[in-house]
Amino acid sequence: MQFIMDCLNVNENGNLEMSGCDLVKIAKEFGTPAYVVDDATIRNNCKKYNDSIKKYYDGNGRAIYASKALSCKYMYKLVNEEGFGIDVVSGGELYAALSAGFPADKIYFHGNNKTPDELKYALENNIGRIMVDNALELSRINEIAGELKIKANIIIRITPGIDASTHDFIKTGQIDSKFGAVLETGEADDLVALAVKAENVCIKGFHCHIGSQIFDLEPFEHAAEVMMNFIGDVKEKYGIITDELDLGGGFGIRYTEDDNPSDLGEYMNAVSKVVKRVAKERDVKLPFIIVEPGRSMVAEAGLTLYSVGTIKNIPNIRTYVSIDGGMTDNPRYILYQSRYTAVSAENPLAPQDKTVTIAGKCCESGDLIGKDMPLNDVKVGEIIAILSTGAYNYSMSSNYNRVPRPPIIMIKDGKPTVAVRRETYDDMLKCDMF
Ligand code: LLP
Repeated sequence: MQFIMDCLNVNENGNLEMSGCDLVKIAKEFGTPAYVVDDATIRNNCKKYNDSIKKYYDGNGRAIYASKALSCKYMYKLVNEEGFGIDVVSGGELYAALSAGFPADKIYFHGNNKTPDELKYALENNIGRIMVDNALELSRINEIAGELKIKANIIIRITPGIDASTHDFIKTGQIDSKFGAVLETGEADDLVALAVKAENVCIKGFHCHIGSQIFDLEPFEHAAEVMMNFIGDVKEKYGIITDELDLGGGFGIRYTEDDNPSDLGEYMNAVSKVVKRVAKERDVKLPFIIVEPGRSMVAEAGLTLYSVGTIKNIPNIRTYVSIDGGMTDNPRYILYQSRYTAVSAENPLAPQDKTVTIAGKCCESGDLIGKDMPLNDVKVGEIIAILSTGAYNYSMSSNYNRVPRPPIIMIKDGKPTVAVRRETYDDMLKCDMF
């Protein structure tokens, strides 16, 4: 049996297993809901990124993990062991990374509105690069770096004007975006001019990120072309030779069988070709390439185990299967109407001949995992798995309705380890002052 997550199998007990660990046993031992994540799959993804940069770009680049996809100390340690850098987008992510011992010089700090405190925290810790989003931010960085008597190494974020085909909320490359300096309007050029004059910054390169969950290669190639031409323009106009080109993340993954992402090697090959061609055409130095994968690093490495609590059949309308989690551990349906695959951990081979709506337990009608999804004839108490929840689930979870967050159970060397423990009621009250 082939599941959309490669690390899944059916074991001799007929249960779903992840890299040799019985998921029904895990549900019994650690309780539900629980995120279960496969360490080996993530390491394998790191290897794929590292190898493809070696193969198609002579190793002249670096993959940095966009840690917003799944931020926990275990992950920072894992990707560090695999030679990755990281992208952080808040003081909180930066704090988590530094607490996990992540080397500061391989940290890249993103965001459209980093606060002065966050910028100071980053600069005091000498992190690798600060991605500059806009002119106001540039002046803040310049000022704080001056106060600290250091030079901030910056990468300027450009909005290249590329409208990739994905959900509106996760598009970022088009002109109408809160992120980055727009190319077409001249804002990008103005920002470079300001950065050239700013005394306490050093322009290391340029960045773009066109969006997330993108399957086609064409928008990535287009972005690389636009960015390389911009580097050429900057060289001609300002005589500045920058070393680094950060092409962002956005690589799509499989949530259901209908999803068909391109091969990672093909992506790197296609993008490298464009960069090399335009470098020649514009007579600019081949840049050190940075890619920032988030979702594609962890999504297909993780699933969420739930117990079925109630089943409500409304004849000729809908069957609701309610589980013991929902939008608090996975808000992606309520935010993006995202689609997922459900499999019974106890009966993974049973025919999926029912159409059900999997509902969460919050007081919110939109609190669903998915509408009209195929599933087997599940019973109350059955353990079900929602696949490909490794990215943007734990990291976007909340305590709405005072629901505690599930633990993250990592499967490593055939054994489960608690990477993040389950939240308690007391944890949720720890900031209450009365
Ligand atoms: N770099 C930058 C500057 C980004 O903004 C992002 C994602 C990434 C890299 C990583 O992109 P990825 O490889 O994961 O596609 N919460 C949404 C996704 C938001 C993505 C935000 N930025 C979701 O659940 O679909």
